Amino acid sequence: MAIKKSSDQYGSSTPQKSSSPRNRPSLPQVEKLEQQAHLLSAAATTEEAESSEDSIRPQRLADYIGQKDLKQVIGIAIAAAKARQEPLDHLLLYGPPGLGKTTMSLILAAEMGVNCKITAAPALERPRDITGLLINLKPGDILFIDEIHRLNRMTEELLYPAMEDYRLDITIGKGQSAKTRSIPLPPFTLIGATTKVGSLTSPLRDRFGMIHRLRFYEPDELTLIVRRSAEILQTSITSEGAIEIARRSRGTPRIANRLLRRVRDYAHVKPADLITAQLAAEALDIFNVDSCGLDWTDRLVLSTIIEQFQGGPVGVEAIAAATGEDTKTIEEVYEPYLLQIGYLHRTHRGRIATEAAYEHLGYLYSD
Ligand code: ADE
Repeated sequence: MAIKKSSDQYGSSTPQKSSSPRNRPSLPQVEKLEQQAHLLSAAATTEEAESSEDSIRPQRLADYIGQKDLKQVIGIAIAAAKARQEPLDHLLLYGPPGLGKTTMSLILAAEMGVNCKITAAPALERPRDITGLLINLKPGDILFIDEIHRLNRMTEELLYPAMEDYRLDITIGKGQSAKTRSIPLPPFTLIGATTKVGSLTSPLRDRFGMIHRLRFYEPDELTLIVRRSAEILQTSITSEGAIEIARRSRGTPRIANRLLRRVRDYAHVKPADLITAQLAAEALDIFNVDSCGLDWTDRLVLSTIIEQFQGGPVGVEAIAAATGEDTKTIEEVYEPYLLQIGYLHRTHRGRIATEAAYEHLGYLYSD
């Protein structure tokens, strides 16, 4: 049993064994809902009224902060495709949620002067879902499919000739009288996004001309993003205030922008007309986002490994069962950042909480 130091720096906000994680939605759950709502509206039409998220999104490559390597590769691809008057090659973007895969696709569409249709694999259940989208594309358009690792086999197989030869092979009728018809499609670009590139089948992965990983953002990049967003939202913030928000944003612009909005609300009701580091810290402590951006569920995952499994190694299924979280959510949403900041190690025998995690949560570490 791990011993908790008496000076718990997070007080009652550190999860206790008896409290139920189901009681409150965690930050990434809220984030996912926001994202889904956005996808739905974007799928309905690309010309809808701008949401406040859209007003903050960079519209052009030059406004996009961070992901230097990706920007360079994409800049070259855009210039070459434009010179040849061809559509961009198909692009697969992978990495943790919130790092700008959708934003990058919208930027690509803007730079190429084409439409971007946004959908997600779970919405492409029946063959007619994907055929309907493909048939309605205009030459050069971009089709963005989120969570592409979740495509069903039939939809995926319809995509192969569509991606390779701009051709849709559809089967009409059933059994012995079934006939295949080929319908030509306009040249288009497929952008696939996934948090789990390893779950893509190789025939699908091999059909992407560009495969790129999005990385967590550096603190100085997030600071610039917060300052840029604050300016768009007409909110006054000091450099230190932006740094404080950036520090707690888990390397993720979507979180940085959400935290900025929460701090702005806090400043509004306080009232304060300038976001300083102290005000940002005060607000984010209230919102249960700790000094390095961990939320209640992150801390629950770590404290469960420490208290119930003696620090590990422990399998992700056991962590999920003990915390009441979904295995996939732990793997795809919580673990990447905990691994990135060195609070968690993944070994073939399971997950291990590191000494840094013990220290951060105020536990005594013994080897
Ligand atoms: N807002 C969200 N992501 C951004 C980025 N990469 N650059 C600028 N503003 C952003």
